[in-house]
Amino acid sequence: MTTTPLNPAFTPQGNHPATPLLQGIDYIELYVGNAQQAAHFYRTSFGFTLTAYAGPETGVRDWVSYVVEQGSIRLVFTSAIDGDHPIAQHVALHGDGVKDVAFNVTNTEQIFQLVVSAGAKTVAEPTTIEEERGQVQRATIAAFGDTVHSFIQRDAYEGTFLPKYHKITQQLPVTPVGFSEIDHVAICLEAGTLDQWAEFYRNALGFYQLHEENIETEHSAMNSKAVADSSGRIKFPMQEPAPNKSKNKSQIEEYLSSHSGPGVQHIAVLTENIVESIRALRSNGIDFRKTPGAYYDMLPERVGAIKEDLEALRELNILVDRDEWGYLLQIFAKPVQSRPTLFAEIIQRDGARGFGSGNIKALFQSIEREQMLRNSL
Ligand code: FE2
Repeated sequence: MTTTPLNPAFTPQGNHPATPLLQGIDYIELYVGNAQQAAHFYRTSFGFTLTAYAGPETGVRDWVSYVVEQGSIRLVFTSAIDGDHPIAQHVALHGDGVKDVAFNVTNTEQIFQLVVSAGAKTVAEPTTIEEERGQVQRATIAAFGDTVHSFIQRDAYEGTFLPKYHKITQQLPVTPVGFSEIDHVAICLEAGTLDQWAEFYRNALGFYQLHEENIETEHSAMNSKAVADSSGRIKFPMQEPAPNKSKNKSQIEEYLSSHSGPGVQHIAVLTENIVESIRALRSNGIDFRKTPGAYYDMLPERVGAIKEDLEALRELNILVDRDEWGYLLQIFAKPVQSRPTLFAEIIQRDGARGFGSGNIKALFQSIEREQMLRNSL
């Protein structure tokens, strides 16, 4: 893993204070066809609590939003009321998916000026949203595809989520599944644009590059780079398709065509006990990708000793990867919208800082090994 220098503007030598300006992900907003049902689904299946609502009843004219929370994770589901609204057009083009990965900041005006002067495109200039519970400063810039980043400064605000949102107090039962925070947000990019987006996060937002990797299997090839902000709280692994011999569409190519362009491919959430989390999610009806049995036969040799029970991992299809700092356990859920686009990853870390890229090769080898075993019968 290598690190590259920060944008000098973000270091103590530059114009900026030494403290990181991005305080973490404030929320992730998804544009969906039916926000009410999406929020209900994320509550009953993924264990989120419904916390806030905005819509015609709260003074919003043409859209509705539901906010759900779990640990420090906050998701917002937004739908248009009118079919001509840009939110409806976004959903028609991309399907249900992520629109805004919003950052919590201490000074919206300052970071907006800095980021725009470093080349970011403006979507919304800094504005103050005010009500009796205080004020929020918000600005938005364009990112990959139609995705945006908002900067949210909420230190002078004591109300629910954002102005115009009403708190939901009448709580329906929730099965806890143990998510504590967002670990990373993975991004699919069009071929040939990976370098430019890694540069964007380095130059405009002062991120570090964590690592880069080119992976090729018989069925797909991809280039990947991961970037993180200086606090390490925001991590974006990014991938683009690379030329390959196979006629089949790779997972990234399938995402790009189904989503009509680049976007957020998966949201990875951290748990302290992945075995318990996956048991709860499965009983809530969430489906996960299957792992060939041969993967687990090869596992002890590949990753060495781990604390978890191998049989439980095999039963639940949980994957394991090791890097120089430790190991991680991870599993990928199947997409929960009609298009094969956004999906969830559940991850537990025991020291590891990577994203489990060793599993791409290990999964491929285990499929190959099972094919060999079948052919030899
Ligand atoms: Fe991931």
